[in-house]
Amino acid sequence: MAGARRAHSGARLHNPLTLSLSQGERGEERGVERGQSGALHERGASSPPPRFFVTATDTGVGKTQVASALLSLMADAGLRPAPFKPYESGCASLARPADALVLREAARSEDALDVICPHRFRAPLAPGVAAHRLRRQPSFDATLAAFRSFAGRALVAEGAGGLRVPLDAKRDVVDLIAALGLPVVLVARAALGTLNHTALSLDLLRERGLPVRAVVLSRGRPERDPSERDNAAWLERRHGVEVLGPVPFLEDPARRRAAFRRVLRPLIGAEWGVNRGAR
Ligand SMILES: Nc1ncnc2c1ncn2[C@@H]1O[C@H](COP(=O)(O)OP(=O)(O)OP(=O)(O)O)[C@@H](O)[C@H]1O
Ligand SMILES: [Mg+2]
Repeated sequence: MAGARRAHSGARLHNPLTLSLSQGERGEERGVERGQSGALHERGASSPPPRFFVTATDTGVGKTQVASALLSLMADAGLRPAPFKPYESGCASLARPADALVLREAARSEDALDVICPHRFRAPLAPGVAAHRLRRQPSFDATLAAFRSFAGRALVAEGAGGLRVPLDAKRDVVDLIAALGLPVVLVARAALGTLNHTALSLDLLRERGLPVRAVVLSRGRPERDPSERDNAAWLERRHGVEVLGPVPFLEDPARRRAAFRRVLRPLIGAEWGVNRGAR
């Protein structure tokens, strides 16, 4: 299994859209150094800063939970991570996009909200659909420029809904992932139905040559179902991908946050000073 995992997560990108950013802009330059606190910062060490694109099999599955846990682990390691939620819809207030604010707080970031979240919509719709209703075309160049401004930093991007959710007239979330060239963390339900939804998402990512770092299973509802016992093992066997979780259903936000952090810690790793004992 470990061999299959390595083969999958090490897949190279061959999508021409990735050429819209240089290798350096995709954060592939090496290097971190230790600051006065002993924490790790960009530049100087052997590993590039960790960067992920968090997507899901559907909306409301747990992307923000996963992205914020990853950002808080990175912040604990002194990485000054960049939160990136380029498209957010369903904003009750356009000045306060809820997911982007959660990510910014988790990252302990002072990055400008306009860079973290350049495209916001009130309607609780796919961003591309919300924009179309407004007869607007969200600028993809603005999205890429915001991303470029985070060059060289650890980063976690959160998509919108799942992979085939429209972002504008031409592009879906999967096209954004291809353009940014980030390894994918795919969040999926722990329950019955997840083998199908997760397989469809993994098939598309593989078809497009996009590397998957891990699948994260989360139990977003209190009811248990008998499929949960086997889902992780089936996904690993069938798709040769690392599966983390399932994160149990936890109503209490502090306990939930701790559970997501525990499950996701292997993605940041000891090289970044995130040890297994850390809460
Ligand atoms: N393990 C869990 N225990 C309890 N609640 C959970 C768990 N996982 C997810 N949830 C809940 O499910 C809801 C959706 O989670 P989240 O906001 O992270 O999803 P999302 O994929 O980011 O959604 P969106 O597509 O709207 O951005 C939240 O209210 C969250 O608290
Ligand atoms: Mg979200």
